[in-house]
Amino acid sequence: MTKNVRKAVFPAAGLGTRFLPATKSQPKEMLPLVDKPIIQYGVEEAHASGIDNIIIVTGRGKSAIEDHFDISFELEHLLEKRGKQKELDLVRKISDLIHVSYIRQKEALGLGHAVSVARELVGEEPFAVVLADDVIDAETPCLRQLKNVYEKFAGGVIAVMEVPKERISAYGVVAVEPVEFNGTKDRLYRVTDLVEKPPLEDAPSNLAIIGRYVLPPEVFDCLDRIQPGSGGELQLTDGLRLLMEQGPLYAYRFEGRRHDAGDKLGFLKATVEFALGRDDLGGEFREYLKELKL
Ligand code: UTP
Repeated sequence: MTKNVRKAVFPAAGLGTRFLPATKSQPKEMLPLVDKPIIQYGVEEAHASGIDNIIIVTGRGKSAIEDHFDISFELEHLLEKRGKQKELDLVRKISDLIHVSYIRQKEALGLGHAVSVARELVGEEPFAVVLADDVIDAETPCLRQLKNVYEKFAGGVIAVMEVPKERISAYGVVAVEPVEFNGTKDRLYRVTDLVEKPPLEDAPSNLAIIGRYVLPPEVFDCLDRIQPGSGGELQLTDGLRLLMEQGPLYAYRFEGRRHDAGDKLGFLKATVEFALGRDDLGGEFREYLKELKL
């Protein structure tokens, strides 16, 4: 079977309750970080990792995401007529680079369920899963890092990061054994167990699962077998625990910085950092921040 990862599933059908009221009538994936919707950062990361087939699992607000990746004839015509080439390139670029398909999750039954509805579009090949509200700033795109592991070990890979003890209960957490990779033993691990949001005293490590995965197609049969778990939802982590019975599952402590843009404070921090990193805005924005009497 191919080890080539060509497709990425973007579950975007959650209710986004942490970001109400902004998410009442639009998905959180469309919230703009500086000037791009959150989901576009994830799509650009996939493209930069050699993945151009994007499968978006949608719920409410489907049209906003579809319209964003579609050609906007009126807008493009107007920009062309007014000679605004730079803006025209900006709106055209992303839809030219990728192929997007959509599938609807009729009810928000959980992340595990959202991934399983993409089964027919993925088919019998490995695929990536991207939770777009985890925005990752990295020199080598995070998905590229996971693909490198998958290509070598041919087993599912989860991105993980170290989290301070007092915050670990907010995450899925892995129990692990180190594996040598690229000359070190402190990036790649073999997963021996996964726990969704454990109490602090039960957390098996300080390695938290974040929203990037590369998975083999066998995971779909596992997802068909899971029952509602933590929060009454069909959890991806429960499917991954079943997958582990069939073969090795890996966790990769990726290099880069992850922002939780689905959370109000995380979103604000990401906005400030991305704005400071921009050539066209960073300088003035930095001056403005320095003037604030904090
Ligand atoms: P979250 O745990 O962030 O849930 O889902 P959420 O509902 O979107 O947000 P909050 O916690 O209520 O604020 C992780 C990812 O899984 C998707 C979400 O869209 C998000 O990308 N998801 C979750 C689905 O697509 N369907 C679901 O049933 C649940």
